[in-house]
Amino acid sequence: MNSRMEAFTHRVGGLAYGGDYNPEQWDPAVWREDVRLMREAGVNTATLGVFAWASLEPEPGKYEFGWMDEVMDLLHAGGISVNLATPTAAPPVWLTHLHPEVFPIMADGQPFGFGNRLQYDPSSPIYREYAAGITTKLAERYSFHPALAMWHISNEYGPTAYNEASSVNFRRWLQRKYGDLGSLNEAWTTRFWGQIYTDWEQIEVPNIPRTWMNPARRLDFKRFTSDALLECYIAERDIVRSFRDDVPVVTNFMRFYRNADYWKWAPEEDAVALDIYPNPLESDSHVSAAFQYDLFRSLKGGQPWLLMEQSSSAVSQWKVNVVKEPGRMRLGSLQAVSRAADSVLFFQWRASRGGHERFHSAMLPHSGADSRTFREIVDLGREVKALAPVAGSTAQAEIAILFDWNGWWGLEETFGLPRNDFSYVESVMRNYTPLWKAHYPVDVVSTASSLAPYKVLLIPNAYLIDDDGVARITEFVRAGGTVIMSFFSGVVDEFNRVRPDGYPGAFRELIGAKIDEYWAARPDEVFNVEFGDGRTATATWWRDDIHLETGTALATYRDGILKDRAAVVANRYGSGRVVYFATLLDEESFDTTLLQAVESAGAAKPFDGVPAHVECAVRRNDDHEFVFLLNHDAEVSTTVTLSAGGTDLLSGRTVSGDIELGPLDAVVIQRPARPAE
Ligand code: GLA
Repeated sequence: MNSRMEAFTHRVGGLAYGGDYNPEQWDPAVWREDVRLMREAGVNTATLGVFAWASLEPEPGKYEFGWMDEVMDLLHAGGISVNLATPTAAPPVWLTHLHPEVFPIMADGQPFGFGNRLQYDPSSPIYREYAAGITTKLAERYSFHPALAMWHISNEYGPTAYNEASSVNFRRWLQRKYGDLGSLNEAWTTRFWGQIYTDWEQIEVPNIPRTWMNPARRLDFKRFTSDALLECYIAERDIVRSFRDDVPVVTNFMRFYRNADYWKWAPEEDAVALDIYPNPLESDSHVSAAFQYDLFRSLKGGQPWLLMEQSSSAVSQWKVNVVKEPGRMRLGSLQAVSRAADSVLFFQWRASRGGHERFHSAMLPHSGADSRTFREIVDLGREVKALAPVAGSTAQAEIAILFDWNGWWGLEETFGLPRNDFSYVESVMRNYTPLWKAHYPVDVVSTASSLAPYKVLLIPNAYLIDDDGVARITEFVRAGGTVIMSFFSGVVDEFNRVRPDGYPGAFRELIGAKIDEYWAARPDEVFNVEFGDGRTATATWWRDDIHLETGTALATYRDGILKDRAAVVANRYGSGRVVYFATLLDEESFDTTLLQAVESAGAAKPFDGVPAHVECAVRRNDDHEFVFLLNHDAEVSTTVTLSAGGTDLLSGRTVSGDIELGPLDAVVIQRPARPAE
């Protein structure tokens, strides 16, 4: 944790608890009730001003800070710290009315229009000028207000814009990247279809973004869009920092968000922060949440992160929005903390009466303090306070999984592939889920991460990997690591050009085989597969026409044109080992093979024998470890036996090795630091 975050943790006395607070929607009398109820709920942090630009600057250059002064003072008097947002995610109507060119032009060629939020082109100099203006005013006024504990820059950076200003900025970005047009033409393979550029001015954003489009241009446009948004963040961050340097500055990210490369953003923030709304209708939404939490812990190399937004109960954005049944909000909150969140924050404090999200649940619902939700919020506030000793601790893993935005874009955004229906997220989750079920701790890595701490690296459908990443992965195996890789990995370079000398150009030596052709399966094709040990499996969707070199077949096809050829390959390389899936196996066979490879790599298996519905995670600091056991089953009680007991921070009770967990129940056991379970 950096010193700014340490100061924040110290200030809130452990974990942050609270949420978005929008007092501009309410009368001053309500503010007083809010502070009283916040105190009752144990709230120590309020995120203020997220969409308040129009209330702070109702006309250009005319400011109304009186209401915010009063709210800041009230919160401070109530002992509640403020996470103060720059309101730049919602430009006021006067701005887009004065300067309609600020509206982002969307993929369909139409301007976004007014009435939602995020109505800005991040490359627009006018937007940036006005955003800098309101940010400066806020920083001038509140940098030294005693309530200020954190800056929250804008909100969920997002728009992809196809404006003229974006083209100008895109050209600038390309000039910085390639230096001269010759290099760009080479990188983009513009001799194909005669697309050679002779002047920078000829280059535009891929407007009218048809799927038939130069794939390197599309890819660079994705990278550029992420960077253009990041420029907006950095500009505002630097303004608030110029006033005061000891307050953490963050922004909030979204779950599986494709338009911003969080690996590039994370170093620019004091902590990464996540907004997440697991859908209670999806039975495995807590597993994908767990992956997100592991990703967020990993983005800054194992530092605790912030759960910036979640819902207390139902959301309002899906077709059917079901409530979180009693106990689910608590369990979901503890799950985030178990994977190193140092906060439990919500959108939002008080439910709005109108506006698009009038049915989005809140800490304080429409039905008021005498409600199931508020009672659960008060109880959770007490527990979050009891978890203060956990703050600052983190987790380590011996297994890493590659999650890379460039690979994601290459696979899903550039088209013209043997199959154009890949889902990168599905593929990542296919690899992550068996590890989660078996309670293996997992870190998430980028192509630039150090792989030295790991025994096992999983590489799901990594179609595009840059040369550095390839070198790092190759070295990892040479030095003794185990790689578990799935098909269509290591195919193209960072410019989306097929690597030469046979597929998979980057990893032919690693997998010990050459692939002649990629065979997309027909919709109804199912192939029978047999493993060396006699296990049988089925394969669908994809087959590599693979020719073994140094590799050996772990499993072969029993039928089809590829009968007797390898479906799963194992290869020794240097002191390491690679297991390569050349097809899509049925889930059970895939999971078994993956877990066998993990086990033979010698990865420690904590919580062996604990059923999958009891999630197990450990956070550690120098003195203690905190064992989280979370029963996701709403009906079944389960007993878990640990090798050593400790104190359950939630109940305050001393617990021994046998822990009884009721349905949806949880314990957080603090015990002295010791070797893994
Ligand atoms: C996002 C936003 C919030 C709110 C929630 C609703 O996370 O940041 O303002 O709209 O979604 O789910």
